[in-house]
Amino acid sequence: MQLRWASDSKMHPVVLFTMLLCEFLSLCSPSVSEDLKFSEINRFFSPLSLPDSSLQAQENSFTINSIHMDSQPSWEVPNGHNLTLQCLVDISTTSKVRPQHLMLFYKDDVLVYNISSREHTESFFIPQARVFHSGRYKCTVILNNKEKTTQEYQVLVHGIPNPTVTLDKKEVIEGGVVTVNCSVKEERPPIYFNIEKVELNTKIVKQKREKLSQENFLLMDFPIEEQEHVLVFRCQARIVSGNKLQISESSRSEYVTVRESFSIPKFQITPSGMIIEGDQLDIKCTVQVTPLVQEFPEIIILKDKAIVATSKRDHEAVYSVMAMVENSGHYTCKVESNRISKVSSIVVNITELFPKPKLEFSSSRLDQGKILDLFCSVPGTPLANFTIQREGMILSQGQNFSKIAEERDSGMYSCTAGIGNVVKKSSSVQIDVCEMLSKPRIFHDAKAEIIKGHAITIGCQSINGTAPITYYLIKDTDIFQNLLVNSSDPATFTDKPTKDVEYQCIANNCHSHPELHSEILRVKVIAPVEEVMISILSSNEVQSGHEMVLRCFVKEGTGPITFKFYKEKENRPFHETTVNDTEAFWMEKQASKKQEGKYYCTASNRASLTTTSPRSSALMVKVFLAPWMKGLIAVVVIGVAIGILIVTAKCYFLRKARAKQKPVEMSRPAAPLLNSNSEKVSEPSVEANSHYGYDDVGNDVMKTINQNKDPQNMDVEYTEVEISPSEPHQALGTRATETVYSEIRKVDPKNERLP
Ligand SMILES: *[C@@H]1O[C@H](CO)[C@@H](O)[C@H](O)[C@H]1NC(C)=O
Ligand SMILES: *[C@@H]1O[C@H](CO)[C@@H](O)[C@H](O)[C@H]1NC(C)=O
Ligand SMILES: *[C@@H]1O[C@H](CO)[C@@H](O)[C@H](O)[C@H]1NC(C)=O
Ligand SMILES: *[C@@H]1O[C@H](CO)[C@@H](O)[C@H](O)[C@H]1NC(C)=O
Ligand SMILES: *[C@@H]1O[C@H](CO)[C@@H](O)[C@H](O)[C@H]1NC(C)=O
Ligand SMILES: *[C@@H]1O[C@H](CO)[C@@H](O)[C@H](O)[C@H]1NC(C)=O
Ligand SMILES: *[C@@H]1O[C@H](CO)[C@@H](O)[C@H](O)[C@H]1NC(C)=O
Ligand SMILES: *[C@@H]1O[C@H](CO)[C@@H](O)[C@H](O)[C@H]1NC(C)=O
Ligand SMILES: *[C@@H]1O[C@H](CO)[C@@H](O)[C@H](O)[C@H]1NC(C)=O
Repeated sequence: MQLRWASDSKMHPVVLFTMLLCEFLSLCSPSVSEDLKFSEINRFFSPLSLPDSSLQAQENSFTINSIHMDSQPSWEVPNGHNLTLQCLVDISTTSKVRPQHLMLFYKDDVLVYNISSREHTESFFIPQARVFHSGRYKCTVILNNKEKTTQEYQVLVHGIPNPTVTLDKKEVIEGGVVTVNCSVKEERPPIYFNIEKVELNTKIVKQKREKLSQENFLLMDFPIEEQEHVLVFRCQARIVSGNKLQISESSRSEYVTVRESFSIPKFQITPSGMIIEGDQLDIKCTVQVTPLVQEFPEIIILKDKAIVATSKRDHEAVYSVMAMVENSGHYTCKVESNRISKVSSIVVNITELFPKPKLEFSSSRLDQGKILDLFCSVPGTPLANFTIQREGMILSQGQNFSKIAEERDSGMYSCTAGIGNVVKKSSSVQIDVCEMLSKPRIFHDAKAEIIKGHAITIGCQSINGTAPITYYLIKDTDIFQNLLVNSSDPATFTDKPTKDVEYQCIANNCHSHPELHSEILRVKVIAPVEEVMISILSSNEVQSGHEMVLRCFVKEGTGPITFKFYKEKENRPFHETTVNDTEAFWMEKQASKKQEGKYYCTASNRASLTTTSPRSSALMVKVFLAPWMKGLIAVVVIGVAIGILIVTAKCYFLRKARAKQKPVEMSRPAAPLLNSNSEKVSEPSVEANSHYGYDDVGNDVMKTINQNKDPQNMDVEYTEVEISPSEPHQALGTRATETVYSEIRKVDPKNERLP
């Protein structure tokens, strides 16, 4: 059909080639729409079909009226049925011959079939449609540069062909493996397979496995368990098509016969019938093993959950024992070979020959020296051989045991009763023999006295007596602490007493004797000195000559305390005393300036001898002079000053007098006047008198008194002068005191020149 165009072609090859190139480059026909991809592809792949139609197109007109699809027998078909998809196109033309056109079939937008035809109808045949054929189909017709596409048509293929199930073997041994191959050859993966192992007789599904395969088959291993006889495998396939899940029917495999690797174990008990204690009991477990099996299974006999016998290289295991009531119970035999385990069980009932003996005893706790009595008996059975034992050591071969209890007799006691070869043991009894405690000893690690706040360790010990021992430490009258000691070692208590204290120990143990008291331990507690202070009685400004008392005292401290008084900057104490008191004094009867300074003191006692003694703060003491003494000193000082003044003055006048000898004589009256101004206390001097003459002065004075008729011109002052007799330069006789009136004229400067 396609080749037909070649004969119809009337085109020159050169023109054709040019056209082709032109078309291909989209230069000559820019009107060609880009979305007409299919036509372009078509022209490219079958270029020779184009000239025909285009040539025709030049001569005749064509138009595609309609295009649609149809499906035979239907759009939905069962799996495996033939399906024919038709594309029907209606074309109008002016030509007499039907135009050649291209028909393209698409499934889910993928080209699946093409045909160049002159027919109205073209078919796409799908023999035996499968699930994977389901999808959305459409067809396109291309005529010249005209093209038309149908809508999309949904094709649905129902169902999946039954899967094929094949097995790798027809017979298998327990513990083996069967490989199942389930396939759906007709379909395309992915396929979801579901395989079941079914016991043929019971139709019970023993195992179920599922898997998605990326091939159209799946291999799966199924282990074979015990208790499986004839098996079949069922397989089902599922495929997802679009959004629908298609499920196949279930197919069955051939049968598989399972052969036992070994039989279910069997018990054999001897003796058969009633088993009485003392009988030789054999519990045997046997198993039959298939000759094909290379590996022997392991046989295990359990009583309850304890393994009592095993066998690995034999087809039986035996548990042999002398029958005792304790051997009664559930026995299990387990035969195991890797995955396979077969079990059977049995109950063994053993009849008791005689009951367990009973050990009777006087007391489970008794004091040393008391009688320990033990008696072993079996209820209702007098004829038996008995033993009485302590921790495995036989004490007596008889039914009775009796002795004077000692501490070392403490322990676990039991007895046995035997008839024939059946020996039974009683339950054990703990018997404690208690030795009486010796008087506890109390002791401590410290010396006779301890320092307040320091720890003291007190020990209590009873040398003899059964442990455990409870020790109570009594402090003064109360229980301070108690300790349980599980040996003869001492109990140690620690305390920090703050004052003198008395300790006592009380010890107690299992012995019936009442608790024992130790001696009383007295501990003297000395308080270290605390807060040393210094003070002064009266004020800390002391008048010289008065008493000065310093007091050094502590807030706390046990006597005797040594007080030391220091003056600052002196290394050695100036006073040291040891007193049985918290204070000490130092006294100076007559304080002097020497005592002025800073004082401090230290205090120490036995508790502080080792360390540096605490010291007080410094106390400042000042010593001042008495007022009368001050006065005295003042007088002395003033006297000395006056003396100096006089001497100086005399020297002055003497010098002056010598210098002015003549001028003085010439103007004699003026001299005393000048003099009187500078002398308030006129101390007559020998030297002065010799120059001026005492009489002259006296005359002058007298004359002045006598001339006292003009008081307005002169002020006269009388000064009483006390003259001490001790004055060495005194030349006025032997009177103790003499009052000298000296006239001092205060001369008015205006009047001075009047005379
Ligand atoms: C399906 O088509 C094949 C040819 O491809 C034909 O042999 C067969 O008979 C057809 N089956 C049916 C059911 O029509
Ligand atoms: C059309 O089908 C033929 C065979 O029938 C094939 O050789 C050709 O490549 C197809 N063309 C397209 C475009 O698929
Ligand atoms: C499983 O069966 C399928 C079809 O029966 C076959 O193609 C495939 O090779 C088989 N696989 C194996 C591993 O035997
Ligand atoms: C065991 O035997 C005694 C009597 O000999 C019987 O009373 C008891 O029920 C038996 N027990 C079992 C578990 O068979
Ligand atoms: C043992 O003690 C029991 C009672 O306690 C007494 O009847 C019996 O005679 C004693 N037997 C011997 C051998 O001491
Ligand atoms: C006690 O022991 C002796 C010797 O061991 C034995 O001959 C005797 O039969 C025993 N008695 C009983 C009651 O078992
Ligand atoms: C402890 O016991 C022994 C003998 O048992 C005795 O010699 C010793 O005096 C006892 N000691 C005291 C402190 O009772
Ligand atoms: C005392 O010591 C003994 C062994 O030394 C031990 O068996 C016992 O349990 C101890 N008791 C206590 C109360 O610790
Ligand atoms: C100290 O005083 C205490 C009581 O206050 C007295 O028992 C002790 O004998 C005194 N010591 C001295 C050495 O005086």
